[in-house]
Amino acid sequence: MSSNTTGHDGLPSSSTDADRTADAGDVVITDVMLRDGLQNQPTHVSLDGKLLLLRALAAAGVRSAEITSFVSPKAVPQMADAAELMRATAQMPMRLSVLAPNLKGLERAAAAGASEVAIVLSATDTMNRRNINMGLDEALRVSLQTLGAAIDLGLRTRAYVAVAFECPFEGRTPAARVRELAVPLLEAGANEIVIADTIGAAAPGEVRRLLDALLPVLPVARVGMHFHDTRGMGVANAFAALQMGIRRLDASTGGVGGCPFAPGASGNVATEDLVLMAEQSGYRTGISLPGLVAAVDLVENLLGSTHGGGAMPWLRRMAAQRRTEPLTA
Ligand code: HMG
Ligand code: MG
Repeated sequence: MSSNTTGHDGLPSSSTDADRTADAGDVVITDVMLRDGLQNQPTHVSLDGKLLLLRALAAAGVRSAEITSFVSPKAVPQMADAAELMRATAQMPMRLSVLAPNLKGLERAAAAGASEVAIVLSATDTMNRRNINMGLDEALRVSLQTLGAAIDLGLRTRAYVAVAFECPFEGRTPAARVRELAVPLLEAGANEIVIADTIGAAAPGEVRRLLDALLPVLPVARVGMHFHDTRGMGVANAFAALQMGIRRLDASTGGVGGCPFAPGASGNVATEDLVLMAEQSGYRTGISLPGLVAAVDLVENLLGSTHGGGAMPWLRRMAAQRRTEPLTA
């Protein structure tokens, strides 16, 4: 049980707060702001800026984060400092994941000291070609090969199935396809299968239907969900997933992000929105909302642009009030 629980006003409170609903269990939130969030940003964030962001996330109580990608710096210039960032974070008290979609990425990640890697397999041929320059069959083969090699190195692994609801090029994705791809990734030993709504096209009923198709063949404890918030459904989708028993959710502080290779993909569901919804619904995230407000302020300063989920104006007002109130014992 974390000491960082938050009350309905978004401020730290005791876990015995009478207003809290019944304890619904722990939720692991992986903050992907440094990877998914920054990969699409036109403003370059320096290594020092990234370290400041990561420290702000750690100070807010985030315990799992995906921080960079070992991909071609020509394809994603913002991730060119992946090895330096990895080495500089060796002492961080967090679970840190990095994206490594092929063997070359894995070799670079392992050499830089990564202990957890993520591969990304898209559910359609065109999305794989646009993202990692290979068709679906080759992408599955390379993903399994990279996963196997990561496991042999003793690394923890996450395996994304991207465009699991809709592909910007091929339209709606059949649930059977997602299942056909997720099962071999699981059988190859991926610790976590992350079902991703890359372009934020899902609605809660579809989340339930896809999970209905997946959970008979995937252990719920090993399934994570990764929602983008393009149509404002991210929090509702995450709640649907929680109700189906999912306890691993990705989110990006400030809602920063989007995939450069998937037209129309906007940022991930904001970590602050997800934490507020989850805590107020009785789940424990261990993440402090005032801490996230400080992290969003920092990311805005570094990017020179405005960010924050739907709850951010209210959270900012609460945080400001708290700063002006006299401290009491
Ligand atoms: P490629 O051109 O097909 O690779 O790129 P290649 O094997 O033909 O090699 C070409 C050059 O790239 C060679 O260098 C390789 O060494 C180099 P050269 O000889 O020309 O100097 N190369 C690499 N360099 C660094 N790291 C590597 C690597 N691999 C080859 N790992 C590649 C294939 C995957 C590298 C390229 O297509 C790429 O970098 N794509 C970017 C993928 C990416 O970062 N996408 C965004 C993240 S995915 C996402 O956001 C979705 C997600 O959030 C879930 C969701 O929301 O759905 C995860
Ligand atoms: Mg994503």
